[in-house]
Amino acid sequence: MGLFDDVLQSGQSLVRSEEALDYEFLPKVLPFREKEQRYLAECIRPLFQARSGRNVLIHGMPGIGKTAATRAVLRDLEESSDEVHVVYLNCWRHNSTFKILVEICDQLGYKFTQNKNTTELMKVIASICNKKSVVFAFDEVDKVEDFDFLYPLLEDIYKKTVILITNYKSWLMELDERIRSRLQPELLEFKQYSASEVREILKQRVSFAFVPGVLEDAAFEAAAKKAGDVKDVRAGLFLLKNASLEAESKASKKILLVHVQTALARMDEFFTKNKEDLEDDTQNVLALVNKSPGKKIGELFLIYQKAGGQGSYKTFQRKIARLEQNRFISVEKSGGGAAGNTTIVHKRIDEY
Ligand SMILES: Nc1ncnc2c1ncn2[C@@H]1O[C@H](COP(=O)(O)OP(=O)(O)OP(=O)(O)O)[C@@H](O)[C@H]1O
Ligand SMILES: [Mg+2]
Repeated sequence: MGLFDDVLQSGQSLVRSEEALDYEFLPKVLPFREKEQRYLAECIRPLFQARSGRNVLIHGMPGIGKTAATRAVLRDLEESSDEVHVVYLNCWRHNSTFKILVEICDQLGYKFTQNKNTTELMKVIASICNKKSVVFAFDEVDKVEDFDFLYPLLEDIYKKTVILITNYKSWLMELDERIRSRLQPELLEFKQYSASEVREILKQRVSFAFVPGVLEDAAFEAAAKKAGDVKDVRAGLFLLKNASLEAESKASKKILLVHVQTALARMDEFFTKNKEDLEDDTQNVLALVNKSPGKKIGELFLIYQKAGGQGSYKTFQRKIARLEQNRFISVEKSGGGAAGNTTIVHKRIDEY
């Protein structure tokens, strides 16, 4: 045996399909989300019978297939019929009414958007959509700055299904009553996967992504375990992708446990790097949330004060809001109940 048999020759690759580990990659079949996809399809089906569809609010934690399942349904819809326009957009990228309307025009194939204001754009959209029917999906809709686009879409377009996707269903309560009463959405909750479901999903991705046999079992299990623990498929994809890059950079012929361990360390490193842009005290608040996730904001404030944190509750709330805005953490608002409105502060791991 040669001493360097285990060294990857230049040009050799462990990866068969790099895209298969991308967050945006959409497999042909999405296991464990059949029920949710069927439900969405049922809400859209009336559009084929010249009726309006039902609107849906999809909610659930990060990294559990809300985007993927929705896109899979829309892909099927586009492949099976020309009767229905399909518009999917991410409100993180298109975060104002104007940007959203321009993007919708673009997806509908209307290019003359320059110099048009929102009212004119809306007219164009209604005239195109009312010739057929339409499904709109607004992903990460809680990231939008204003909701003005929703009202005319609901009012001026006759046959439609509006799908809204968010992490927290309580977001619905923030909507203007006029919009809410027209929307009347069905609620579709995506529950978190079990650890074994996360493992299965990652296994499928590995079979697309890597040359057979290059991923050591222990390496896979370590990545799957971490992703299962945090119940987020994306964390597993991050680990597998970074482990494979690490293995390639070391010219290793296999992806080994040690490569996943390096990727695990990088998960934290990456997080720290971005954090440096935050003010010192906001970094302290972030560290606090990461140490005690899932607490009510009031409880967190007490811990903060005990640890020597200065400043008022209002200032603290502003820091939490800033962290949320920058996606370092996520915030769940739950209304009502005996305890009144509460804000629960969660760790976010999809930014790794
Ligand atoms: N059932 C599944 N089968 C195959 N891949 C899946 C499945 N569920 C999730 N994934 C993959 O996991 C990753 C994260 O899923 P997705 O982007 O749909 O999460 P999400 O619920 O929309 O999260 P967020 O709230 O952060 O937007 C994607 O790459 C997606 O393809
Ligand atoms: Mg998503």
